[in-house]
This record gives sequence, C-alpha cells and structure tokens, in this order.
Amino acid sequence: MPAGEAGIGKAGMEWLQERTFITGREMRMFKTRLTEMLGIPHPIMMGGMQLLSTAEFTAAAANAGVMAFLAAETFPSPEALREEIRKTRRLTDRPFGVNISMLPDTGRGERSLTFAGIAADEKVAAVETAGSDPAFLVPILKEAGVRVFHKVPSIRFARKAVAGGVDGIIIVGFECGGHPGMDDVPLSIILPRAVDELPVPVIAAGGIADARGFASALCLGADGVLMGTRFVVTEESTMCESIKKRYLEITENDTTLIMRSLKNPFRCYKNSATKRVLEMEARGASLLELLTVVGGQVSRDTYAKGDPDGVPVACSLGAALIHDVKPIADVVNDIVEGAHAILSRLRSMEEPGTGTRAGAARA
Ligand SMILES: Cc1cc2nc3c(=O)[nH]c(=O)nc-3n(C[C@H](O)[C@H](O)[C@H](O)COP(=O)(O)O)c2cc1C
Repeated sequence: MPAGEAGIGKAGMEWLQERTFITGREMRMFKTRLTEMLGIPHPIMMGGMQLLSTAEFTAAAANAGVMAFLAAETFPSPEALREEIRKTRRLTDRPFGVNISMLPDTGRGERSLTFAGIAADEKVAAVETAGSDPAFLVPILKEAGVRVFHKVPSIRFARKAVAGGVDGIIIVGFECGGHPGMDDVPLSIILPRAVDELPVPVIAAGGIADARGFASALCLGADGVLMGTRFVVTEESTMCESIKKRYLEITENDTTLIMRSLKNPFRCYKNSATKRVLEMEARGASLLELLTVVGGQVSRDTYAKGDPDGVPVACSLGAALIHDVKPIADVVNDIVEGAHAILSRLRSMEEPGTGTRAGAARA
C-alpha cells in the first residue's frame, strides 16, 4: 500500500514524510484499529515503567512513532507529573500518554484519580492503567477525549475493564517483565482468547522483543503490541548502563518470579536481591519486610549507583532475544521492516493448487 493510503491521519503522514526525508527511504506501514484510534504510525506501545519513563525517554519513543507513557508514580507529586507532561510536549509534537499503576488494596484510589485528572486537564492522548479495575477513572478521562487502555493478565479482569468503558485492552502473557498475574498463561494462548472474547482492540504484551514477536502477535489477532524490556535496552532509555549491560546477558533461564507469596508475582532477572527475596518469602516474610528489599526507594538508589545486583529488576523472558543497545528508532524500524520480511517469506511458501484438502478423500 502506498504511504499516502496508510490511513494514519495527518499527524502520522507528517511523521512519515519527515522520516522519509531523514532516512531517504519510505517504509511500509501496518494499519490497525490502534494506529487509527491514536493517529500513530506504528501499532507499537512502550509500557510505562516506574523510575524510567521520564519526559526524555517518553518523547524519544514518541518521536520514533510509538505510543509511550510517562509513569505517573515516578514523580514526587501530582504537580510534578503535570510539569513532566509539559516538558514531554516541549520535546515532541507526537502523541504520548500517562501510565497510572494501581496496587490492589493499597488505598491508591484518590492518588490515581488525581493523576487521571491531570492527564485529562493536559489532554494527553492516552492513559495506560494497570493493577486495579480502572472504571472509576474512565469518566473523567473519556470526557477529556483521553483514550484508556487497561493492562491485564487475564480475561476476567479484561471483561470487567471493558464493562467499565475502556477503549482497549493490553493483554499480558506470563513471559512479561514485571507483573504477569497469577494464572501463568503464555501470550500464545491468552492473546487469541482475548481477541475472541473482547469487543475492543487488543494489544499484546509479554516477551515481545523483535519482528518475530510483533508479526506473530498480529497473526494471533492483536491490533498492536506493547513492549517494556526491549525499550529499556536502548540508547535513550534512562536505565543505568550497567543494568542495560546485564539485560544483554540474560537467557530464557535467567529470570525468576518473586512476590508470589503475596499473590502479586513480579518477573525479574535472577540476582542476589531476588535470591534474598525468595528466601524471605520461604520463611513467610510480610509485605512490609519485603519492601525493605524491593521498595521504590531501594530501586531508585540502586539505579543511581548503577548496581545490577542491588535490587530485583523487572525483566522479560524476551530479554533472551535482545542482543544490543541501540536507538529506539532502530528497534522500531527493525521490527516493522522485519515483520514485512516475515510476511513475504510466508507468502513465498504458499503453493496454490498443488495439494489436497485434508479429509477430501473421505468426502
Ligand atoms: C524495568 C521495568 C519497569 C516497569 N515498571 C512498570 C510500572 O511502573 N507500571 C506498569 O504498569 N508496568 C511496568 N512495567 C511493565 C511494562 O510496562 C510492560 O507491561 C512489560 O514490560 C511488558 O512485557 P515485556 O517486558 O515482556 O515487554 C515495567 C517493566 C520493566 C521492564
């Protein structure tokens, strides 16, 4: 399809023209309900990541054609979030959003509502919610024209969020960095289930790190993908360099789930901190005790020190597929162009009219 017919809206077309001017070549696009809904060139999102998703990182992803989310909990106050939104706007003219992460049962309702009010006031393009049911945030956001995407690991939570009025569901497989939920269902199963069950666009997350993951998610019916870990390992990522380097060493056998005893499992790469947490959990440690090892301030200090072993660090099984630290635009271009190559390879495998339909002999 010629670029002019890509259906990505005026903003998306301007982006494409600008990019073609910079790189000297045109790129074929994937048009889905997600690109249409948000006016973004690629059906790709960067999930909000606490302590990392600042204005600079979010704007860099937005400038690469991705829907990225500032992580509200990163900033010291709601007003600081407002400032960060304005700063992001100075760094990009592309759409971006805010992630509002809610821990179940920790009384974050008021705080989340304040963040949602700011996202609505500032008219960001979208909000990514996670953790608890976002229904109470939906009216204020929708009234301001902000799209709401709820991130969940199971169909039952997804259905509830859809009933609450969200615009899309980000369905997370067991492979993901961070919180995969308690059901242990891989993306290859939960994604087609979500596509079959839900009346809204479904975005796939968990273990996606390259063109193969992106293409297979689209084949399974997704309207787009969301990645976290792949984006952490990029030049523009605000993660310290020593931890970026550690991610490159991670194989499919090097992640673990902590916090399962609290019914809030968290996938990280294995290090001395996860070993300590698992030992504490085995002897029945409480949330308060565990927070001395996994709390936000411990992460902040550890990232600042650049210590890859100082704290459990969220990490996808997909880290096994990440072999380089490169600019976000290169990650995105490699994924989109790679997916087209995969589709061409599949098409070249087709041999029309040379076979017999299974069961035809019986008919
Ligand atoms: C370092 C790191 C920090 C994260 N922090 C958050 C967060 O604060 N809120 C949230 O909703 N998700 C968070 N996530 C999850 C991502 O937004 C995304 O859902 C997940 O990484 C997708 O799986 P993937 O890592 O396999 O791509 C984090 C992920 C990573 C890797």
